[in-house]
Amino acid sequence: MNYDELLERSRDVAARVLGRGVPADYIPALACADPNDFGMALATVDGEVHGVGEWRKPFSVQSVSKLFVLALALAHGGTSLWRRVGREPSGNPFNSLIQLESEQGVPRNPFINAGALVTTDALLSLTGDAQGAVVDFLRAESGNPDIAVDPAVAASEAGHGHRNAALAHFMASFGNLHNPVDEVLAHYFAHCSVTADCRDLALAGGFLARHGLRADGSRLLSRSDAKRINAVLLTCGTYDAAGDFAYRVGLPGKSGVGGGILAIVPGRGAVCAWSPGLDAVGNSVGAMAALEDFTERSDWSVF
Ligand code: DON
Repeated sequence: MNYDELLERSRDVAARVLGRGVPADYIPALACADPNDFGMALATVDGEVHGVGEWRKPFSVQSVSKLFVLALALAHGGTSLWRRVGREPSGNPFNSLIQLESEQGVPRNPFINAGALVTTDALLSLTGDAQGAVVDFLRAESGNPDIAVDPAVAASEAGHGHRNAALAHFMASFGNLHNPVDEVLAHYFAHCSVTADCRDLALAGGFLARHGLRADGSRLLSRSDAKRINAVLLTCGTYDAAGDFAYRVGLPGKSGVGGGILAIVPGRGAVCAWSPGLDAVGNSVGAMAALEDFTERSDWSVF
């Protein structure tokens, strides 16, 4: 398969829709991103890497970090996590508070903000350093030592984080956060503010394509847990657009308001597309278009 040609065509398809997206501005540090930027990279299960456009330009991973937090919490033995967070699509915006009250402070899934605050809390309890665990993992899988938290973005998130603080305090009132709320929030803002590029994320997502095996061949997760994470990514990874994403792209995937989307093809590899312009739900317009085109024309599909 000629991956470079496939990626170039997906980039051309994405270029036609980039103007329709708007960078996130509720986190002020993200608002200055250039909506015309676009990059895409894939990494096969055996480590072959291809990229197109600005695939080596670092961006804010935002909610893409949530998949690594969940995986690391499970890897560190956090199976009881599933008593504290569900695995159903929420059908609501990623930062919604509405279901938490009637559902006793248990978030619908680990990929909405409330759910990721719970998994961050669990990873903090299990490791003592949730943000450090995420950064170390991304560096190890990608081989890129420059991956780090962007302190300006983290501060911007914290300064405008009233909704996340409300979610965290509300869950704490139900006993569903075990560490001090401010500590959980600090680790959550930090791992969302990690900067990495399309190549880094495609390589870091490889463990889900390799059924739980890391880049060095060691096992992070059981085959069963890797299967389960992929399933929850497919149904919940792109929020209240998960149905549309499954219809158009047809892969387990996780989006972030920095404009990145990381998608997994079990047994084949991982592909990351990025463009900062978002649709109304918070998913990248260009990355969605590129991934849709890529899966339509390649055999990288689960269907
Ligand atoms: O907490 C927030 O709102 C951001 N740090 C992350 C949200 C996000 O990326 C949702 N993605 N579509």
